Amino acid sequence: MSIPTYLTELVDYVDFNQQSLFISAAAIAFNPTAWNIVARREYRTRFLTRFFGSSRAACYALAVSIFSLGLLRDFLYERALRAQPTHPALENPLVTYAAYALLAAGNILVISSTWQLGITGTFLGDYCGILMDKMVTGFPFNITNAPMYYGSTMSFLGTALLYGKPAGILLTLHVLVVYLVAIQFENPFTAGIYAKREKERAKTAGTKVESKKEL
Ligand SMILES: *[C@@H]1O[C@H](CO)[C@@H](O)[C@H](O)[C@H]1NC(C)=O
Repeated sequence: MSIPTYLTELVDYVDFNQQSLFISAAAIAFNPTAWNIVARREYRTRFLTRFFGSSRAACYALAVSIFSLGLLRDFLYERALRAQPTHPALENPLVTYAAYALLAAGNILVISSTWQLGITGTFLGDYCGILMDKMVTGFPFNITNAPMYYGSTMSFLGTALLYGKPAGILLTLHVLVVYLVAIQFENPFTAGIYAKREKERAKTAGTKVESKKEL
């Protein structure tokens, strides 16, 4: 199988001697890994809830750290892009329009899902014991099951195109792989948290019916 020329072209325009490229890649992989480990530990041991005094405070602390790590990651990404060569084919108005469209669509997905889920729903509140009353099915969840992750990936690609940097396209592929792995880890775990709640609800409902019968 021969490698398509546009892929070799792409890699030819990536300067692998820039350390900032690898720092950016590491930050991209670190974030979801770190917050999944911390959130699962919180779910099992409630160490954050005990430390911060309530599950809500624990969740907000988690939200602030995830958000700040996200800002740091974005800063490192832009810094990496600035150190990379620009591809002349990407310096064209059509690419710039596509970049703005991707940034707009990506931000709409991220902002609308935060709006739908709220702060605790967005930032792993269910791991801290703050469960949603019911599953959110409205936009953007009626078009994708992971609007945050796909929206963020679109923003990464939009930024890469806006800067005209093939290295950004490569880092975006890395983002996508990291997020697809994260989804594989998170979705079954969250489903398990909610299944457990349903089981407990069914049990309490059962107890209520029994006690009514006794009356
Ligand atoms: C998703 O929901 C929005 C708003 O509720 C609606 O306008 C849109 O058509 C829906 N999309 C799909 C694919 O169902």
